[in-house]
Amino acid sequence: MCFHHNEGERLETARLADAVYRAIENTGRGGMRFWDKLLDRSVVFSFDRNGYRRHARGFDTESHRVSLRDRNFLVTGANSGIGFAAVEQLAKRGATVYLACRSLERGGAAVAKLSDHIPDARLELRQVDMADLSSVARLSETIDGPLHGLIHNAGNMLDSCQYTDENIEYITSLHVLGPYSLSLRLSEQLQAGAQNHSTRIIFVSSGGMYTQGLNSSELFEPTGRYDGMRHYAHTKRAQVVLAEQLYERFKPLGIAVHSMHPGWVDTAAVRRAMPKFALATKFILRSPDEGADTISWLAGYHGADIDEASGFWFDRARAPKLISKRVSVSTEEVMRMMTRLDQLINSTQAIPI
Ligand SMILES: NC(=O)c1ccc[n+]([C@@H]2O[C@H](COP(=O)([O-])OP(=O)(O)OC[C@H]3O[C@@H](n4cnc5c(N)ncnc54)[C@H](OP(=O)(O)O)[C@@H]3O)[C@@H](O)[C@H]2O)c1
Repeated sequence: MCFHHNEGERLETARLADAVYRAIENTGRGGMRFWDKLLDRSVVFSFDRNGYRRHARGFDTESHRVSLRDRNFLVTGANSGIGFAAVEQLAKRGATVYLACRSLERGGAAVAKLSDHIPDARLELRQVDMADLSSVARLSETIDGPLHGLIHNAGNMLDSCQYTDENIEYITSLHVLGPYSLSLRLSEQLQAGAQNHSTRIIFVSSGGMYTQGLNSSELFEPTGRYDGMRHYAHTKRAQVVLAEQLYERFKPLGIAVHSMHPGWVDTAAVRRAMPKFALATKFILRSPDEGADTISWLAGYHGADIDEASGFWFDRARAPKLISKRVSVSTEEVMRMMTRLDQLINSTQAIPI
């Protein structure tokens, strides 16, 4: 696919893409299935907003109407983008949602905005730096009641390699170690939730993880010239593997663990971290609401049929975890990563389970 630099031409390309999709829609069900398969093989026409719209034709609209009135969810990075949209979708269905935000000021503004849209929203604001294990520990101590969903959404991409005060690579700490620690620390609250409802932990990973296998050395001590996008992809791959590992640990407690990716979504993070990409895809990016759909669907889905295995989900369907023979996840690397995560957690705090 070629992207034009001129804004008018880009708009034309987006209009043309919309017209092509409409023409495909007119080919009837058999034709649609053929085109769906073909377009899903491409990344652009699947991760973009038209990909969402194609997939959404098959969505069960009833599941999003089921009330979540007696359920509690925690969303990290809830003050903007996909996290904010996920909170909105859950709160509209009556759920109580904890917004775990790095800044109380930005989190407070998000709560005020949501309360304007949804006057009876049940929202609880909490402060956390997900890259900081002591902050994660403090957050977990403020969650008393049962929890039916824990959504690891907070994320970032940096252009230089940075380390936390605990001397852990920052993005690995934010995307992998912090969520691992929080999942363990909230296990009692999640177990209490699982007494009466489907309860899930969800990692918001990225389609970018398809470009990298699991490499625990690269996760903890990136070598060579730091490439922020590459390192981000390593950590997003690690999230998918961590979800599988946590699934084995949590399933006996009645808690399922999944990962998902939202496609390409128009958010502050994309505009800040990948300005050229954001410009080139300006007219085909999904809205945060579209990007969050699979998160709130997974979190609020009542049946246990989706919990038979830890899935990597995209647009409410299981997606493959590997798509290239060049990329692999070996058992040795999985063990290395888990051993290292446990060592880091043990050396900084007691593990509750
Ligand atoms: N947008 C996409 O196309 C796309 C594609 C694939 C995956 N994702 C994933 O989707 C998730 C949400 O990203 P987004 O696109 O919605 O970006 P966003 O609007 O920038 O949201 C990121 C959120 O994470 C929070 N955050 C960052 N560092 C944090 C920390 N140390 N502790 C706690 N919270 C922190 C941010 O808080 P502040 O406001 O304080 O910075 C913000 O609320 C990320 O995990 C991202 O990797 C996005």
